[in-house]
Amino acid sequence: MSKTRVYEIAKELGMNSKELIEILQEEFDIQVKSHMSTLEDETVEAIKELIEEMRETKKTEKKHKDLSKDAKELSKEEEEITELTEERTIKEIRLSEENLTLDKLAKVIGVEQNDIIKDMFLKGKILRPGQELDKNTVEEIALSYNTIVSFDSPKIEPEVVESDEEDLELQLAKRWIEIYEKEQDRLTNRPPVVTIMGHVDHGKTSLLDAIRHSHLAEKEEGGITQSIGAYQIEYKGEKITFIDTPGHEAFTEMRARGAQVTDIVVLVIAADDGVMPQTIEACNHAKSANVPIIVAINKIDKPNANIDLTKQQMVSKLNLVPEDWGGDTITVPISAKTSKGIDDLLEMIILVAELQDIKCIPDGKARAVIIESKVDKAMGPLGTVIVKDGILKTGDDFVAGATYGRVRRMINDKGQSVDEATPSTPVQVLGFNDVPSMHSILYVVDSKDEARTIAEKIRQRELEKSQSSNKRHIKLEDIMEM
Ligand code: GTP
Ligand code: MG
Repeated sequence: MSKTRVYEIAKELGMNSKELIEILQEEFDIQVKSHMSTLEDETVEAIKELIEEMRETKKTEKKHKDLSKDAKELSKEEEEITELTEERTIKEIRLSEENLTLDKLAKVIGVEQNDIIKDMFLKGKILRPGQELDKNTVEEIALSYNTIVSFDSPKIEPEVVESDEEDLELQLAKRWIEIYEKEQDRLTNRPPVVTIMGHVDHGKTSLLDAIRHSHLAEKEEGGITQSIGAYQIEYKGEKITFIDTPGHEAFTEMRARGAQVTDIVVLVIAADDGVMPQTIEACNHAKSANVPIIVAINKIDKPNANIDLTKQQMVSKLNLVPEDWGGDTITVPISAKTSKGIDDLLEMIILVAELQDIKCIPDGKARAVIIESKVDKAMGPLGTVIVKDGILKTGDDFVAGATYGRVRRMINDKGQSVDEATPSTPVQVLGFNDVPSMHSILYVVDSKDEARTIAEKIRQRELEKSQSSNKRHIKLEDIMEM
């Protein structure tokens, strides 16, 4: 039996003899005194085997370690990628068309209902917790959280969505949405814009007259000049802008263009006539635009006035429950004739405005809503606007739908020329190249060239649209004749 020295075995195994001696002690319980000690062949074989084994295990361990390290790194990378994609990609959700409420939508999108209310408020839309939503609003909300909604309804046909890039008006509107989102510290309160609505002859104009006569911001010599269909009063130091009924389409139209002019609706119902068809219509429009409604029960001076019956009809026909009946609709009995209750109504308007916390961008380039337009023989095309944001100044270049121009002159609600109009102020603007379409939005731009280019593109597009609808029309007639 031959014997081999420790250092020789160590050399053969590629390790130093000290290491080998330790292994011999621990694994084989053999006490080796020096590198020169000799070992039996049997032991040498066993040692070689063990060392081989140990090395294999180490290798696999390392492999495992490496593998799991790789896996960890991979999953980390994957996490990062998902995070990034989640940030960037658009989520798709399916919803049932029925019973869509804000709280349900918030859950599906995965955001807090209150955050939606806040975000949408900044975009000029007022929502209440749990409120029922129409499809357009659902889509609008979802999109602002990078979510596309499809509705579970077999009847819905795919809509042809026109590219945003072509819609210059939408782009201009979006610019403002961005300003609102990014520059929230710039936002300040502005006076509320109140629209008086109601059925024919229920006393809308009389109410406006009554308010105007008793609460003019400044008393003028020689009476009142109301040259425009909107005016501002001051009540207890608070400004309020009133506009005559802008027509019902105005609500939906202005909303579609991204600027709602009305902050509060005063719904006039004559106490001797009760809720009538146009009352219902006006109420529905205000509701679908999410504008808070204050009900003014008018003509209470009349002997046949019936306040209780009117309130009953409010509940049954309008689904508005007066506050004193346990509901949340502020209801003020008034007489436009005797001015009874007018101050109460103004107090309520101020209160609702405070609750609404109506904001604007107070300075910089203006945007304004056109509420009236006409051609004046002497002055040319005229547009009455209410400034939404910024300050409108004489000399400003602007585009308003397919029309454009430079503010040549501005006339306020008292018939005076002014050089500046701040948010919520109504003014008549001179300087349009053509009569602007009602309810379009006026945007101040950098130059007359920019204004003209945008307006011309918008006009071209409108033309194309009307032509293509004409074509369809002719086609239909052709078929009918056959
Ligand atoms: P349209 O603009 O035609 O829709 O009518 P409106 O809602 O503006 O009503 P308007 O103010 O023109 O009033 C209609 C009629 O009701 C007028 O004859 C008013 O004098 C009368 N009227 C309005 N308010 C009152 C009121 O409080 N009491 C009484 N007794 N009559 C009123
Ligand atoms: Mg009237």
